[in-house]
Amino acid sequence: MTATLTAPRLSLQTLAIADETTTIRSLDWDRDRFDIEFGLQNGTTYNSYLIFGDKTALVDTSHGKFREIYLAELQKQIDLSCLDYLIISHTEPDHSGLVKDVLRLAPQVTVVGTKVALQFLQDLVHHEFKQQIVKNGDQIDLGKGHVLQFVNAPNLHWPDTMMTYDHKTGVLFTCDIFGMHYCRSEVFDQSLTAIMPDYRFYYECLMAPNARSVLAAMKRMDELPPVTIVANGHGPLLRYNVKELTENYRTWSQSQTKGETNVVIFYVSDYGYSDRVSQAIGRGIIKTGVAVEMRDLRTTDLQEIRELVEHASGVVFTTPPQSLEVAQTGVATIIASLKAKQGVGIFESFGGEDEAIDLLANRCQDLGTVLGFPLIRLKAAPTEATYQLCEEAGTDLGQLLSRKQQIQQMKAIDNDLDKAMGRLAGGLYIITAKKGELTSAMLASWVSQASFKPIGVTIAVAKDRAIEALMQVGDHFVLNVLEENNYSHLMRHFLKRFAPGADRFAGVKTQPSRLGIPILTEALAYLECRVESRMDANDHWIVYATGEEGKVSKPDALTAAHYRKVGNHY
Ligand code: FEO
Repeated sequence: MTATLTAPRLSLQTLAIADETTTIRSLDWDRDRFDIEFGLQNGTTYNSYLIFGDKTALVDTSHGKFREIYLAELQKQIDLSCLDYLIISHTEPDHSGLVKDVLRLAPQVTVVGTKVALQFLQDLVHHEFKQQIVKNGDQIDLGKGHVLQFVNAPNLHWPDTMMTYDHKTGVLFTCDIFGMHYCRSEVFDQSLTAIMPDYRFYYECLMAPNARSVLAAMKRMDELPPVTIVANGHGPLLRYNVKELTENYRTWSQSQTKGETNVVIFYVSDYGYSDRVSQAIGRGIIKTGVAVEMRDLRTTDLQEIRELVEHASGVVFTTPPQSLEVAQTGVATIIASLKAKQGVGIFESFGGEDEAIDLLANRCQDLGTVLGFPLIRLKAAPTEATYQLCEEAGTDLGQLLSRKQQIQQMKAIDNDLDKAMGRLAGGLYIITAKKGELTSAMLASWVSQASFKPIGVTIAVAKDRAIEALMQVGDHFVLNVLEENNYSHLMRHFLKRFAPGADRFAGVKTQPSRLGIPILTEALAYLECRVESRMDANDHWIVYATGEEGKVSKPDALTAAHYRKVGNHY
């Protein structure tokens, strides 16, 4: 038998989107979860743009895997020897992977970017090139009315990021901001329902850990004339729902930043897996309602580091590379600014030259800080399981920091409304899920049938549950129904605290469902379900799922019931 290897599907799409403005979209149909934000597995696109005034500008390029077809298409659209500007919104390789090639073909071009972006680019290109640093509010006039204005957006999600607004067309070029990993042939956002899960998921992974910076960037955006099109770097461009989708960023970020507890995460961009690992930890922290600030040690000055650490409830940082003095000094400053009782987390970046993690941990413990999760040691390139471990580690730290506040809140609220709510009874269930190599489980009681055709259920899942990441739209899970008088050992098992990344099923009898999801052998019945939609209910997600398969193994048994006294905790 021979295995058939299918080449990944890569294609290009070129379209005029506004006056003298063309997009070249690189469609990466099969890209799946390689990075943390690729959880929904709908592929992605890398969007680049040409603006033709009297002078011409290229906004961002593409991923290296599109080299041949992208450069051929670009040269069809423009004689590169006449290209005047190459605008770099941010220097991650999915957008600037072909900058070196463009510079070879257009050596006369002036590269435009923030000071940080051009510094980063120098490390990527390794030779001199014509460049122009731009600051917030600076403009470049291309002629024919195309006056480009630059809007700084640091930390969204890299420190070098900026947006570009074209005063003639009202097009705002945003790169990662307002993007999504969603690859379809539709160029624009016609169907809000289709794109919303990916748009939200992308925000949560990449932007929520930078919510304060998102709000600051939106304030700068508010000063611009109306935006007609958001020309983002990933997914469909926003044209039909500009207001709604951009305002979502504001609302979501406001709710991320309203708590008093906050964690600052220091990483080193473009070093090992530092940024991806820090995003996963950040996502885990945010799930507990604790706000996160992310800062790149390459670009944050020591005074800001001191202030951020002094005001933070918790601090997470990476082991810095030995050869990067600025990161070494940054970590020394973090340690010098830590206070007793602050929550701390440390992770390796797998850059091959990290400072020893144990040494740093000892110094933090000597200061009386509390390690919020076990040290994260990276001995190989991260896998999905690594990212899950990092996310769960972040959740542990967030829960540690928010527990005291939550207990106070629970004690404070003991009124009649809560007591009445506590009289709502539910059944007892174990949800089990599997996605790729990842598995998880949780005890659930807020489960209810929600539709007949198709058979559907809703389940309320607390936002800080690890299993939430495996219950995105399109994912499958199994709802195991527990049996009256035969559930307490299972309840105890699944209620206990698991270390980040621990196997929830060790010592529990299971069998695989049709899709390989663990079914608890002792359950009286099970349903295998597919997630259709999710609703935000403040501290919970309401997951609506349709049943695809089910079986009752103990027809005479009764479902276990759960009674409570108050409605302000489980
Ligand atoms: Fe799409 Fe941060 O690169």
